[in-house]
Amino acid sequence: MILPIVAYGHPTLKKESDEIDQNYPELKNLIQNMFETMYNAKGVGLAAPQIGIPIRLFIVDGSPFKEDEGAEEDPKAKGMESFKKVFINPIIENEEGETWAFGEGCLSIPSIRENVSRKEKIYISYYNEKWNLVEEEYDGYAARIIQHEYDHLEGILFTDHLSTLKRKLLQKKLINISKGITTVDYKMTFPKAKNKR
Ligand code: NI
Repeated sequence: MILPIVAYGHPTLKKESDEIDQNYPELKNLIQNMFETMYNAKGVGLAAPQIGIPIRLFIVDGSPFKEDEGAEEDPKAKGMESFKKVFINPIIENEEGETWAFGEGCLSIPSIRENVSRKEKIYISYYNEKWNLVEEEYDGYAARIIQHEYDHLEGILFTDHLSTLKRKLLQKKLINISKGITTVDYKMTFPKAKNKR
């Protein structure tokens, strides 16, 4: 089932999400719906707060990065064809390396893309969909996607990483998105829309 994605301005996007345990109801179903929702919106990551559920869960599938031109030679795209994962109660244990800028977008903030600087390497622990505890390290686009989705669990959006000036320049666009004044071809909930759709 495709779920509506909540847009910029929705309170859940500003909230710190809660951990879940193995008794969380209908988790398998929720994960499946999240994948369906993400693929329908052509995203490479989706966090539960983006569908209005403030729990520490996100999913990723980086395979579209492999379809980009030059991806074969791009070391940052290494392993992306099999980067389809579920992260439950993740903890980024450490981030290291050089910071690099990359133009990020977000399904909750359609049609805006801005450079965000993040460290190149992360160490993360999390539970997978079988509730096995996993510890891994990532770099390249995989680390980038995880850092972006992990931020959602902390109530942080990529726009929060931008300079005050940049944010000011985007302010009008962001307010319009929260009102539903934007072009998007997937189902969304706009918190400030006059006629809720
Ligand atoms: Ni996002």
